[in-house]
Amino acid sequence: MTKFADIKGFVFDLDGVITDTSVLHGNAWHQLADSLGVSWNDDLANGLKGISRMDSLEMILKAGHKENDYNQEQKVALATQKNDNYVAEVNKMTPANILPGMKAFLDDLRAKGYQLSLASASKNAPRVLDKLQLADYFPKVVDPANLTHGKPDPEIYTKGAQVLNLDPAQCIGVEDAAAGVQAINAAGEVSLGIGDAHELAAADMVFADTASVTLENIAKKLG
Ligand code: G6P
Ligand code: MG
Repeated sequence: MTKFADIKGFVFDLDGVITDTSVLHGNAWHQLADSLGVSWNDDLANGLKGISRMDSLEMILKAGHKENDYNQEQKVALATQKNDNYVAEVNKMTPANILPGMKAFLDDLRAKGYQLSLASASKNAPRVLDKLQLADYFPKVVDPANLTHGKPDPEIYTKGAQVLNLDPAQCIGVEDAAAGVQAINAAGEVSLGIGDAHELAAADMVFADTASVTLENIAKKLG
């Protein structure tokens, strides 16, 4: 079992961890689902967290038994429509949209010499970091365009450790999504979940909210 003293780096998810863009993603998908006549519910919304753009669209179409109703070109047009709505909301973001305690946590990690990388499935991650004025904190970003598999596959978290030249066991992966926690565990990193303890039961440690994620509290849980 990994000890706190073994930890050298943190591999961060973005949406729902550093900022509440998971709500913006959800709103934009909800709007698209409504326009397609697919009924929306919390399970569908939660299941989409951490899932790539095209896989999210497939999940929504499947939920409405419409997966065979559109060809690839039409699917790309639907995903683009959702993304345009999402980007319009992202463009309104400011550093005030950083979730409670996260800036202080990132500052503390930097001050104490931990290495940081970003493992977000979002192709909009650089834009979001820029809006939050956090790009400097994450010089190492895994580009989701180069991935073969999305979360829950471990690939993005494996690469998140690789870009830091660290062994996965020296890293804590930080996630709000069940699919992301699964990916961290499969990559052999320590999984830190933020959100509902039941939903994130597979995580090595769960915090109810971002404000309680501190090095002190992590050390207490890891021992
Ligand atoms: C993150 C979010 C998902 C989103 C995915 C792709 O993982 O949690 O909700 O679908 O990124 O985002 P993108 O901005 O590339 O559409
Ligand atoms: Mg997330």
